[in-house]
Amino acid sequence: MDLSFILLHLPFLISFLPSVFGCYTSIFNFGDSLSDTGNLYYTCSFPNPPNVCFFPYGETFFHRPTGRFSDGRLVLDFLAMSLGLPPVQPYQGVEKGITAEDFQKGLNFAVGGATALDLSFFEQRGIPNLPPTVDSLGNQFNSFNQSYSSICTSSPPKCKDIFKSSLFIMGEIGGNDYNYLFFDGRNIEELESLVLLVVNKIASVILELIELGVETLMVPSNLPIGCLPVYLEFYKTTSNESQFDPQNGCLKWLNQFSEYHNQQLQEQLKRIRVLHPHVHLIYVDYFNAAMRIYNAPKDFGLVEPLQVCCVDKNGSYYFPPPCGGAGTIVCDDPSKYASWDGLHLTEAAYELMATSIINGEFTFPQFSISCLQRNTSTQLLQLQ
Ligand SMILES: *[C@@H]1O[C@H](CO)[C@@H](O)[C@H](O)[C@H]1NC(C)=O
Ligand SMILES: *[C@@H]1O[C@H](CO)[C@@H](O)[C@H](O)[C@H]1NC(C)=O
Ligand SMILES: *[C@@H]1O[C@H](CO)[C@@H](O)[C@H](O)[C@H]1NC(C)=O
Ligand SMILES: *[C@@H]1O[C@H](CO)[C@@H](O)[C@H](O)[C@H]1NC(C)=O
Repeated sequence: MDLSFILLHLPFLISFLPSVFGCYTSIFNFGDSLSDTGNLYYTCSFPNPPNVCFFPYGETFFHRPTGRFSDGRLVLDFLAMSLGLPPVQPYQGVEKGITAEDFQKGLNFAVGGATALDLSFFEQRGIPNLPPTVDSLGNQFNSFNQSYSSICTSSPPKCKDIFKSSLFIMGEIGGNDYNYLFFDGRNIEELESLVLLVVNKIASVILELIELGVETLMVPSNLPIGCLPVYLEFYKTTSNESQFDPQNGCLKWLNQFSEYHNQQLQEQLKRIRVLHPHVHLIYVDYFNAAMRIYNAPKDFGLVEPLQVCCVDKNGSYYFPPPCGGAGTIVCDDPSKYASWDGLHLTEAAYELMATSIINGEFTFPQFSISCLQRNTSTQLLQLQ
């Protein structure tokens, strides 16, 4: 091996060194507004831009809207930080097509409003007023697969090697499939019949990724939707006292619905583990990571877990969230709230969830933290 060969390949070699010590060198993410770090933001220059393009979205950390549906960072941002990685690059931000270098750094395909099932499914069910930007998991996979096909069929880089040290995150996804039906007033029977379709879709995309050589996948669960203020508001007049959990004020039957989705998702993951025992398939229990906050908010410095920080000018909140733009009213201190806009959580709540996940809680099998950098204060700089 001569020197020029080594110099030519040095950046490539260095980028893989951490994997020797069990670390991840990149993150690939699929999902919806819970993990969109800027894909929907690329529609902000279109006519009728979404609310997320406007202040106060982003006010706490970035001090400007970034397309994140929160006042600040998301669970995905905290996860990337803990791994010593920069925020996961939105694939829409990559101009002139995705290159091998982008692929080495990882990409985020998640987009606000995305569903697991294809748009045609909701059109056939007669769901009105779907956001024009609604994107599906299938489309996200196709975008990934297109880059994969153009980059990985020639070598270097060898994508199998990239994937060996990459963390893939599948979701959360599916929450919007349910939102669109619930807020159209569909009954619980119709919703329950949707669950198997949603988790089957998630499983099929996981299997496609495994076919392409993906080795480590995190699969987050659905949130406890019975604790989300937009749901509590929507069902306020039709609910009676006995339907609320006295410990936390959440609607029990809606949380049971989330748990039904989560159980079915775990069943699918079990099946995939049997088929592919070498793949690290990690279930991330967002449901209980969030429930811990709703059950004892004061332990975490949150005063108003079921109150909404960002509402419309008459103080109301509904689906889709009216936060953002002219006439928005925003609370003084989002760090005291769990709910940012009624549907999405505050940076404070996301950080609490992320911290417990990074510590290996709520991950099955337990997420290895051996390579995580504990000192996040230095990492914060990378995000700005
Ligand atoms: C991925 O892309 C390749 C090349 O375009 C295509 O042949 C293949 O069918 C795609 N895979 C899936 C699962 O769509
Ligand atoms: C309250 O709701 C529960 C569950 O839907 C129902 O069984 C019960 O009859 C209701 N009670 C009243 C007083 O409406
Ligand atoms: C609040 O104002 C919005 C328009 O800004 C309106 O659509 C909504 O119905 C109002 N809500 C209430 C409870 O008055
Ligand atoms: C983290 O790093 C910063 C900057 O290097 C340093 O000032 C701080 O003391 C460190 N904190 C811990 C807990 O090590």
